[in-house]
Amino acid sequence: MKFELSEEHLAVKEAARDFAENVLKPGVIDRDNEQRFPKDEIRQLGELGFLGMMVDPKYGGSGMDTLSYVLAMEEISKVDASTSVCMSVNNSLVCWGLEKFGNEEQKQKYLIPLAKGEKIGAFCLSEPEAGSDATSQKTTAIDMGDHYLINGTKNWITNGSSASIYLVIAQTNIQAGHKGINAFIIEKGMDGFIIGAKEDKLGIRGSDTHTLLFNDVKVPKENRIGEDGFGFKFAMKVLSGGRIGIASQALGIAAGAYELSLAYSKERKAFGKEIYKHQSISFKLADMATDIEAARLLVYKSAIDKDTGKSYDQSSAMAKLYASKVAMKHTVEAVQIHGGYGFVKEYHVERLMRDAKITQIYEGTSEIQKIVISRNILKD
Ligand code: CAA
Repeated sequence: MKFELSEEHLAVKEAARDFAENVLKPGVIDRDNEQRFPKDEIRQLGELGFLGMMVDPKYGGSGMDTLSYVLAMEEISKVDASTSVCMSVNNSLVCWGLEKFGNEEQKQKYLIPLAKGEKIGAFCLSEPEAGSDATSQKTTAIDMGDHYLINGTKNWITNGSSASIYLVIAQTNIQAGHKGINAFIIEKGMDGFIIGAKEDKLGIRGSDTHTLLFNDVKVPKENRIGEDGFGFKFAMKVLSGGRIGIASQALGIAAGAYELSLAYSKERKAFGKEIYKHQSISFKLADMATDIEAARLLVYKSAIDKDTGKSYDQSSAMAKLYASKVAMKHTVEAVQIHGGYGFVKEYHVERLMRDAKITQIYEGTSEIQKIVISRNILKD
């Protein structure tokens, strides 16, 4: 078992860190305040090849492995989780889903611009009454011969207004339960497709999360992904990989808060010495460092499981469950270490604390991860 990153992996990590520090950090507080999508920054991320990291170069991607993606996600998330969620959805839900399960025409038409970062994608599963219980889709797709007619509402959609290409899960045959669900590629601008209200959120405020409405949207048959009835399995498979992305986001948020706390504790003096010299602070830092390292090992292991062709349903759920818990716990500690400064925006840790919470909710709540893990460990 090796615990060393290769030269190539270190170079990806370094490039992402540079980008985060030099491009993302200067405007991150303003974007959070103004709930402004990082449009320019995302364009630059695409030019660096970070929006289609795992996609084969013949489809416009960077042809890297999942571990590289995780390393980049970690570094970007240390500084700006609003940017990294856009990056995560585009890479691991939309691009990966299309490359793995789309047909050649779909890859040529949709995957290439997404992998190059010329277009942004969104993944649309959640509904007002179908978040955790993903089989209860109310959005319908009626088979009309040469096209499907889509009707319904999707909620909490990341990249809701900035995306151009949407992977939409809908119920085609209610009697067939999860076997009657399909996934469709829907383009912005199709008649009847309306981008609804934007959410005013606690965290990841720079990302644009919207309700989407579908009123008799005509979607050509060739835009269905996979065989009839494959949609639910498509969503589950895509989400297993997506959870590696969100786990690495949580890891990055925790590690960012830790790095800021470490630096601050060496600068700030109280009771005649730097605060890290007080055991009350050094013990907090020791706990943070230990938990973050444990989360990192789970996240990297899950990425390596995927890269080596092993099953990663369980390891990605474990990585997300644990890394998101660590992110929440230690961003709160980071605010505490910073004292009053931690409570003001200029010091970044309050934003990281707000951003951490969503990692315990999206792409499956912590409770959903426990369902996935327990089913895996208890199966014959
Ligand atoms: N891979 C392949 N197939 C899978 C699978 C997987 N990982 N997980 C389940 N399936 C299959 C099952 O084998 C079963 O198929 P068969 O009947 O043929 O055997 C079928 O799917 C139904 O599975 P379950 O009976 O296990 O389904 P369930 O109703 O009990 O639900 C669940 C399982 C794990 C709870 C699932 O509903 C789930 O993951 N819910 C959470 C959804 C979620 O993560 N939503 C996030 C939205 S996306 C998002 O947040 C993106 C963003 O913006 C950042």
